[in-house]
Amino acid sequence: MERKVVVVVTVSVAAVACGMAAVAVGWRVRKRREWKKAVRVVREVEEECETSVERLRQVVDAMAVEMHAGLASEGGSKLKMLLTHVHNLPNGSERGTYYALDLEDTYFRVLRVHLDGQQSPILEHEVEQQAIPQHLLTSTSKDLFDFIASSLKEFVEKEEDSELSVARIKELGFTFSFPVKQISVCSGILIAWTKGFSIVDMVGKDVPACLQEALVQKGLGLRVAALVNDTVGTLALGHYHDADTVAAIVIGTSTNACYLERTDAIIKCQGLLTTSRSMVVNMEWGNFWSSHLPRTSYDIDLNAESPNPNDQGFEKMISGMYLGDIVRRIILKMSLESDIFGDISSKFSMPFILSTPMIAAMHEDDSPNLREVARILKDILEIPVVPLKVRKLMVKVCEIVTRRAARLAAAGIVGILKKIGRDGSGGITGGRRSDMKMRRTVVAIEGDLYSNYTLFREYLHEALHEILGEDIAKHVILKVTEDGSGIGTALLAASHSSK
Ligand code: BGC
Repeated sequence: MERKVVVVVTVSVAAVACGMAAVAVGWRVRKRREWKKAVRVVREVEEECETSVERLRQVVDAMAVEMHAGLASEGGSKLKMLLTHVHNLPNGSERGTYYALDLEDTYFRVLRVHLDGQQSPILEHEVEQQAIPQHLLTSTSKDLFDFIASSLKEFVEKEEDSELSVARIKELGFTFSFPVKQISVCSGILIAWTKGFSIVDMVGKDVPACLQEALVQKGLGLRVAALVNDTVGTLALGHYHDADTVAAIVIGTSTNACYLERTDAIIKCQGLLTTSRSMVVNMEWGNFWSSHLPRTSYDIDLNAESPNPNDQGFEKMISGMYLGDIVRRIILKMSLESDIFGDISSKFSMPFILSTPMIAAMHEDDSPNLREVARILKDILEIPVVPLKVRKLMVKVCEIVTRRAARLAAAGIVGILKKIGRDGSGGITGGRRSDMKMRRTVVAIEGDLYSNYTLFREYLHEALHEILGEDIAKHVILKVTEDGSGIGTALLAASHSSK
């Protein structure tokens, strides 16, 4: 009898143990299945974002062809290829004191630059950047420029001791980094706003004229000598320090490029007479588009939900404003397809909750247990506990998105070099020629994405070398300039001074 009880108890314990083991196995199987689903999402996006050197070369060609088309006729390409009427870049001989006003998306800066003709601009003073009250971003051009002119007046009066009198007129370069159709170096009509601005009455108006009117009303003896895109300011500063600088790229929150073109290649504006036989062209490359760009469903959704669908397609794949949100969209998909993050956080659905600096911080987290990744997931996305292997997967997602962006930016740069015959090939029609003598070619570059995100910069350089090959790439130098949109613009005011 006693033995029977023992047997029954033993059997029951074994059954419970077996049951528990089965549950554990079942749990592990389910977890593995969920993990595989998340990995599949990442694998798919990795394949879709593929940027082999062959594909990059197709993007290079497409960029060069579109540049051609944009120069051939107005509206001939999504690349606007805007004339800047800047044909003399500063060379170091400029002298005097000049002002620069740099209108950014939510603030502006004023600078006063003293030039001694010795190739070293001395920045005498820089006003603390002034925030633009939110309501002015959508009000009227008069309100905006009155506000700017008042702040300028305060700055100038502080700097000059006494009020600038009309008799002592000083010159000012105005950095206005939006698409503008320039009629001369100091006048231009706003085509459309980008970034956060939406001052409707301003579109179609002469931008420097609006500023000049506000300056006159405030009794300021400042003349707008040059209207300058930030890329053009970057090129000016780059060229001032290094005469081999032929192009400039801005790659930060948004992106754009400009370069020095032969006037006879600007077919849409025949008969342009310039002493240098060249002119800086503002490409507005953020709007570049080609079927060769590796586009994913995440890009398609991001574009459809943006305030400017079908515009700025290249910018939406490569600039700092969007990389974080592409990553967020991928994580959202992972969380919908699997339970690797536990319960779905409502934060996953919040557009732009992940910024590009956060992506950089996760991507470059070199702590053994990815502390920074865990922190961002917890603090920003409100997922308190994430296993290490999931954190590693997050790093992978950041890598895929950033790598694609950097490599496409590199292809864009080579596209410009190809258009001007500095890529070691015979230009847009010719094949690669090994006997071609390659000239030293400098591209000035600015923007947080390039300067502050080390891995982005490394991927970009790596791709540039892959596309060009080592022999050609060694002649191409990417040089970071500092404050082209401030100092570079003051330099352009000097080189286009009426004095
Ligand atoms: C503007 C360009 C500008 C670029 C970088 C883009 O959104 O359209 O004119 O150069 O941003 O600031």
